Amino acid sequence: MGIFNFTHVLRSQQFDRWMLETFFDRVDAIKYDFLHARGDVRKRLSEMLMFAVFYEPSTRTRFSFEAGAHHLGMHVVSTENAEQFSSSIKGETLEHTIRTMCGYFPDVIVLRHKDDGAADRAAGVIDKYVVDKNRHKVSIINAGDGMNQHPTQALLDLYTIRRKMGKLDGLTVIVGGDLEHGRTVKSLVYLLAKFDNNRLIFVSPDEFRIGENIKEHLTEHGVEFREETELEKVLPDADVVYWTRIQKERMKDSKLVDSVRKYVIGSGEIGLFKESAILMHPMPIAGEIGREVDDDPHAVYFEQSQNGLFVRMTLLLELLSKK
Ligand code: NCD
Repeated sequence: MGIFNFTHVLRSQQFDRWMLETFFDRVDAIKYDFLHARGDVRKRLSEMLMFAVFYEPSTRTRFSFEAGAHHLGMHVVSTENAEQFSSSIKGETLEHTIRTMCGYFPDVIVLRHKDDGAADRAAGVIDKYVVDKNRHKVSIINAGDGMNQHPTQALLDLYTIRRKMGKLDGLTVIVGGDLEHGRTVKSLVYLLAKFDNNRLIFVSPDEFRIGENIKEHLTEHGVEFREETELEKVLPDADVVYWTRIQKERMKDSKLVDSVRKYVIGSGEIGLFKESAILMHPMPIAGEIGREVDDDPHAVYFEQSQNGLFVRMTLLLELLSKK
């Protein structure tokens, strides 16, 4: 049975608790099959076509989507710097690019773009123009749109929390770093709010606080949260620490970056963690976690990024195998 009742993946709010739990069970099965049986899952989407259209830099998202698609037997066409290497540089609109690309019959377009709302615009083009009665509809997957959302990152983040903590309810989660410009935190917070009795602690410099709209969402959904500036004060309470980098490229005033130098997790901070607590990061890490932490048992960010492969393979299977 299909889990999702939608064609496009645009934002975290689309998922409900049942979908997430059922989806994660399937990711577990795919991960097991891939790592231990190395069998069934391969080639399940053969002859299907993925376009990966990335207007912003990416390592993990693009490679895990493309690798996952290849492992499933798909064909892949991609551009990693669409801002320069597509007709965008000549002045073409995203709408024209997407409408043109759909004429080449992809099954899915994975899109990363610098503008908030770009994935919605792309999906709007498909819903309006690309309804070919003899074929299925093309799916858009939002692989990050500006400072807005990164829903597939949130799926792999939440999946990693479930694997490591064994539950998704009743957790104290520190979400820290650049909470204003980062998109991964926003998507993750929407997902955590769908579970019971989670407590969120936002740790950021005053300049980069979490947005009012997120706080309103949490209040509406009865999720306990607070804001802190002193990391050491709250670290001993956390089950999960989700740390993020300062998004320099999204800032007008680069001097602000200096104000966040004190938000670095090194071995001293790790010493304050509960024994069972985990340190997560969407990566790339740009100095906000000390190198000495990489091999510490609390640090799970490499496992987290590898989970991206299994989560994205499962997502492609769920969206495309019913087509
Ligand atoms: C994130 C992104 O692109 O938003 N990277 C990723 O996909 N893992 C985080 C970041 O760039 O800081």
